[in-house]
Amino acid sequence: MTQASSVPPLDLLLERSSTGDLVAPAPQGDVLVRILSAGLRAPDHGHLCPWRYVVIAGDARPAFAEHVVAAMGRQEPDAPEKKREKRRRRFSETPMIIALGMHLRPEHKVPVMEQEMAVAAGAMNVLNALHMEGFGGVWVSGGFCEDRALLSQLGLDAPHRLAGFLLVGTAEKPERARERPETGDYMAFWTGSEPVTFRADERQR
Ligand SMILES: Cc1cc2nc3c(=O)[nH]c(=O)nc-3n(C[C@H](O)[C@H](O)[C@H](O)COP(=O)(O)O)c2cc1C
Repeated sequence: MTQASSVPPLDLLLERSSTGDLVAPAPQGDVLVRILSAGLRAPDHGHLCPWRYVVIAGDARPAFAEHVVAAMGRQEPDAPEKKREKRRRRFSETPMIIALGMHLRPEHKVPVMEQEMAVAAGAMNVLNALHMEGFGGVWVSGGFCEDRALLSQLGLDAPHRLAGFLLVGTAEKPERARERPETGDYMAFWTGSEPVTFRADERQR
């Protein structure tokens, strides 16, 4: 964990990486609210405020884990017992889980995809805010995130959906600097004469 005050903000952003190896503490009280406030700073076409954060912590976790495993049983009936047990443990033992609810308005002129992207942008802001406050997290999903009974528990009756979960706590080990793709492969300048190509795609030709 880096001391936020000693690191330039962009360096801090560039050193973030996801981790699922999480121990207590997770953020509490005003710190938690401030971290989620970063989610509400995401761009949001039409000001529809589609983000809905459901926090699952403490004694609520084992009961919620049973809902997740039941949802898996319905959505992924062929999932091996080992996978179910892994998910049961993850959802019961991770210090905090934040469900990423998407309160969607299909009738609105703003396309649903843009509403969903606002939730995704919010989730990334939350991950960055967690990192800036010295916490760790990872965004996870799976077929069980489509399960209507599970979504009802989270206040997400149709047409609302779930973008996944943030598993939240403190990184057990210092975050490992992962090797990242070369930025130059994924950017280009359009100069007005030729359509752009990306180095990242040249390898696939
Ligand atoms: C919508 C979404 C769902 C994801 N679901 C999973 C998942 O179920 N399991 C998983 O291991 N990683 C999942 N990931 C990837 C991790 O959140 C993470 O991006 C990955 O471990 C790379 O780590 P990084 O953030 O350090 O690049 C998902 C990412 C996104 C954006």
